[in-house]
Amino acid sequence: MRNFLVYSFGILAFCQSTLAQSSVDQNFEGKIDSLLSIMTLEEKVGQMNQYNGFWNVTGPVPEEGDASNKFEHLKNGWVGSMLNVTGVEEVRKVQKIVVEESRLGIPLIIGYDVIHGYRTQSPIPLAESASWDMETIKASAAMAADEASASGINWTFAPMIDISRDARWGRVMEGAGEDPYLGSQIARARIIGFQGEDLSASNTIAATAKHFAGYGFSEAGRDYNTVDVGTSTLYNTIFPPFMAAIEADVKTFMNSFNVLNGIPATANSYLQRDILKGEWDYQGFVVSDWGSMAEMIAHGYSKDGKAAAESAANAGSDMDMESYLYVKHLKNLVDEGKVSVNKIDDAVRRILRVKYELGLFEDPYKYCNEEREKTVIGSDKNKAIALDMAEKSIVLLKNDNQLLPLKKKGMNIAVIGPLAADKNSPLGGWRLAAEDDSAISVMEGLKKYKGNRLSHEKGVALVKGKEAFVFEININTTDRTGIAEAVEVAKGKDVVVMVLGEHGFQSGEGRSRASLDLPGLQQELLEAVYAVNKNVVLVLMNGRPLAINWANKNIPAIVEAWQLGTTSGDAIAKVIYGDYNPSGKLPMTFPRNVGQVPLYYNYLSTGRPTDPGNDLVFWTHYTDEVNTPLYEFGYGLSYTDFKYSDLKLNSKSISKTGELKVTFNLTNTGKYEGKEVAQLYIQDLFASRARPVKELKDFQMISLKPGETKKISFTIDSKTLEFYSANNKWEAEEGDFKVYIGGSSNTVLESNFILQD
Ligand code: BGC
Repeated sequence: MRNFLVYSFGILAFCQSTLAQSSVDQNFEGKIDSLLSIMTLEEKVGQMNQYNGFWNVTGPVPEEGDASNKFEHLKNGWVGSMLNVTGVEEVRKVQKIVVEESRLGIPLIIGYDVIHGYRTQSPIPLAESASWDMETIKASAAMAADEASASGINWTFAPMIDISRDARWGRVMEGAGEDPYLGSQIARARIIGFQGEDLSASNTIAATAKHFAGYGFSEAGRDYNTVDVGTSTLYNTIFPPFMAAIEADVKTFMNSFNVLNGIPATANSYLQRDILKGEWDYQGFVVSDWGSMAEMIAHGYSKDGKAAAESAANAGSDMDMESYLYVKHLKNLVDEGKVSVNKIDDAVRRILRVKYELGLFEDPYKYCNEEREKTVIGSDKNKAIALDMAEKSIVLLKNDNQLLPLKKKGMNIAVIGPLAADKNSPLGGWRLAAEDDSAISVMEGLKKYKGNRLSHEKGVALVKGKEAFVFEININTTDRTGIAEAVEVAKGKDVVVMVLGEHGFQSGEGRSRASLDLPGLQQELLEAVYAVNKNVVLVLMNGRPLAINWANKNIPAIVEAWQLGTTSGDAIAKVIYGDYNPSGKLPMTFPRNVGQVPLYYNYLSTGRPTDPGNDLVFWTHYTDEVNTPLYEFGYGLSYTDFKYSDLKLNSKSISKTGELKVTFNLTNTGKYEGKEVAQLYIQDLFASRARPVKELKDFQMISLKPGETKKISFTIDSKTLEFYSANNKWEAEEGDFKVYIGGSSNTVLESNFILQD
């Protein structure tokens, strides 16, 4: 043992001295070669093994079963990473074991799901995406990295960049919605936010592009379900955010639980070896999803754990999260010649590279600074960042007769609904490090405006009994006792603010829904209140698009407030009182009916797209619902109005090396200063693979004073027009294009041009 310790310190010293120049020399390959040359096979496999945290306050306590020897494994250098170990004290303890007691002292990389904040919660990612504001999204991710790194963490399993068109899928809350272009911009912003300009700084963390690939296309929107997509969808819709992530230098990828076209993503060589590490030449490492290797047995793909480890390793899954299969079988698999040492070396090299880049070899405790932990986490500065993000994430869906913003004085307001005073739900579904009930509720936010009188009634409870951090939400569908009181309170008030929607734990992993209605008795409550007072402002809190037809038809003002995190109620109150003029735009289509799902703006036209008008049924439609969404992608109102005019193209044709200038005027025709996200879409009219009816290709956020007009311009070149063609390559094909401009995917201006050779 003593010898090992002496050796261990020796190696650490070696690592430290060779790494002293790491800030000048970012090429760590030589150092990795040296390290690989002295590592045993077990130690290499160890780097590919990640364990969940297991420590309790009294010391290292081994868990039952498979995990029972985790502590020994740390000492033996058989663990490369841990997840869910948080707090400087805890991280320091595990880091100390590997650094001081394992033979080579290779530091652990500490992972955690820092999804939308750490202690301070930002809005859920779907909400952030509604801001279309890349700088603010970046700042929000940087804030999360700042707090997480102050807690000892140096790697987040975020961003989730799975495109999804299915509002039933619970994890849409964690993504950027349905569009590959917007999704790519947001992927980039969040990665740069987490990783910063200098990954080795102590307040930046490595990011993860997840889940590779296709997870957002699970059949029927049911989590973990089968995914079967063709080449065009895979390349043109699913891959772009992952390609953008690589451009943004994302340090790791996570594969996914699903089967993709018959093969589990975890054992998918096509995805991980051919595309990711081959075609895209990705140098980072791939971590499996939680237990996804072992799950390949249930998928009917691997006959046992050993076979699962063999196919995962051969397919390029570099690190095993919580399947315990690499640590059990990988050495034997190498000895038996079933997995080559080269593949192991390649995986270990990738993992070590990220550790070097993080600066962990230089100082394994660099994220363990008690002072930073005390001052950074939950700071006022961070709350201000979260508030800024929250305001910008709100989408105004309807505002008849300018019911909003409300006057700040002299009004009698009823505030009704199960979520009105809720301090927990707005924290959203991925808030592992947040304190329960720590969000500012809508009531609390509204109370800060003292000029109006507020009365509050819950009306109905959303959840039966105590919710805590429950995995299955028990929705109240029977207890109507509060409805009559809510109706009484609503009577005669100047306005009723109703706060309805989903519980924070109704979306997220494993929380798919078959209905997109307001859950429980909330629709009944809404209708009962509306019957006595028509001046209703509906504030929605939800983790996915909902089908709110009745509300859209009847309720004059609707504010989409998602789950906005720690400062939720303040942001909502500012919007309600006009201290923030809403500027958000939907990143995902809101259907009228769950039966329309998957519903998305960038669909392919059928051969029978429109009603022939002869009473025949033979065109693409439903007999009981229209085809159009309730609120389309890109939609969102402001307290002011915007007018688009004078679309001009500087030429009617463009060469493959040329550029086309698209200009138009945007005027604020309303009474308030406001921001508008002007959107540019194109349509490739004929192509070797049929192209969508519209594709978002650019957008700009423009601030305008009342009466002000600005001339806006976009540039289109052949890169803008590229897609993965029937020649199986990214190319822009010559031919006819349309260009559309507007404030949503229901654009208002259009023109056309030709791409020539
Ligand atoms: C999720 C991942 C997550 C991991 C670790 C899995 O269940 O799918 O997205 O990063 O758990 O918590």
